[in-house]
Amino acid sequence: MKIFLDSADIGEIEAHIASGFVDGVTTNPSLIAKSGRNILETIAQICEMVDGPVSAEVAATDFETMLKEGKKLAALAPNVTVKVPLTEAGLRTCRVLREAGTQVNVTLCFTAGQALLAAKAGATFISPFVGRLDDIGHDGMGLIEEICTIYDQYDMTTEVLVASVRSTQHVVDAAMLGADVVTLPPKILTALYKHPLTDKGLAAFISDWEGTGQSIL
Ligand code: G3P
Repeated sequence: MKIFLDSADIGEIEAHIASGFVDGVTTNPSLIAKSGRNILETIAQICEMVDGPVSAEVAATDFETMLKEGKKLAALAPNVTVKVPLTEAGLRTCRVLREAGTQVNVTLCFTAGQALLAAKAGATFISPFVGRLDDIGHDGMGLIEEICTIYDQYDMTTEVLVASVRSTQHVVDAAMLGADVVTLPPKILTALYKHPLTDKGLAAFISDWEGTGQSIL
């Protein structure tokens, strides 16, 4: 399962690239707004830092403008993945961009029916938002299971990119279900390393080792 970072913060992305676990980056209009920076400059900069796909989202909602924005974003770097919302205009845009060889991530997916349409429109990635479904008392991971089952059934090549991840358990559940990608807020990637017994065990090893007076080097 690939791990993408869900961030438009250059410093944050840079700090996590060193871990070797960042296979790509996803952004959205809210994350760009939070960064306080220009979208074109930010996406171009992230694309230079990361070898894998970098999702950059269109802002328009009509087909013609979305397509123009998508083409402009795609021209920024070869690893740009244009992100479009799961609407009729978004899926039309997806189809045209895919025919031109551009990678497309279809976002704001909340049902398996929507995911089916995205795959038929040729999406490279489908982004179901598990956390936002959980937030309203629905079963986010249940949606991932449905989409994976449908895509497997028809050998659909669209990759399931689990988004709106709120916990390390979401990451484990996504991996158990065979999702292709998870996009993680940096704090969830950091949390994946952690366990109190790891900290406790390490403290005991350090203390016992100091008692030996030895040095490996
Ligand atoms: O980039 C899409 C996504 O991961 C949004 O997450 O936390 O705003 O629901 P969130």
